Amino acid sequence: MRAPVQSVQHELYGVVGRPARHSLSPVMMQAAFQALGLRAVYLALEAEAFREALSVADLLGFRGLSVTVPFKQEAFRHCIRVDDAAHSIGAVNTVRRTDAGWEGRNTDWLGTVRALRRVTALEGVSALVIGAGGAARGVVYGLMRSGAEVFIANRTESRARDLAALFGCAWVPMNDLDRISPKIVVQTTTAGMSGTPYGFSLPAGFFRPGMVVMDIVYNPLETPFLRQARHAGALGVDGLEMLLYQGVEQFSWWLQRPAPEGVMREALRRAAQRLQGKASHE
Ligand code: ATR
Repeated sequence: MRAPVQSVQHELYGVVGRPARHSLSPVMMQAAFQALGLRAVYLALEAEAFREALSVADLLGFRGLSVTVPFKQEAFRHCIRVDDAAHSIGAVNTVRRTDAGWEGRNTDWLGTVRALRRVTALEGVSALVIGAGGAARGVVYGLMRSGAEVFIANRTESRARDLAALFGCAWVPMNDLDRISPKIVVQTTTAGMSGTPYGFSLPAGFFRPGMVVMDIVYNPLETPFLRQARHAGALGVDGLEMLLYQGVEQFSWWLQRPAPEGVMREALRRAAQRLQGKASHE
């Protein structure tokens, strides 16, 4: 005789993106659920259209979703409520199901701020943000909100100027970077990501000992940008730290309890190393 089927109720979470299947978030979140003995599952939802993914998540009773490229702005528009940061950034990377609908939050900026705060103060410190796209918006917002003096530099100058005007900070042409001597530099573009060309030509002596240099790219873990910075004696912070802290903030918002940060970091590091091993064999 067959044993009766046991129905075990699991809470559902996931990441919606295009692509989503290479995301490291499932590894990080699943490790956190497991460490705390939670009956919860975190899935990668590869979606053509965000609206459809949200309907499916609704039907299946998902509690929360991470939202990634290219849906962060669209997610913002689908939320019944968003926090102040999401309002200022114009994008949402986290949604949570409520009886009235999905409410949204932006934790990307917190990811950067928390990763940087482990190694440096931000208040009153000068910081250069390279890039002026969606990722840069969160970084600029986070640094400004933390009291840093922010400069933006971007390949297309007009975008740097527009972003600086939006947030009330300064911008500087890429070929004029030796005019400033920031304590912190955050690289927010995809340049240097595995498979994309690295196109910066920074002034000689730009990186200095005592600088804190962060790259939000995590594949490879050590980008050409970070390698150059470390070689000059700067302290490098890789993109996994940002990914970790934006996830820690998501977890604690969904579950209303502290996230197991150490377990999540460990899971991410292991997964990223596997990814690099694979890339170097391709
Ligand atoms: P995201 O939302 O990931 O930030 P985005 O809005 O398309 O993506 O912005 C990409 C950013 O990376 C831009 O700042 C872009 O510079 P431009 O505004 O000049 O296009 C920058 N970027 C992408 N590839 C780059 C490269 N090879 N060298 C320098 N900057 C690059």
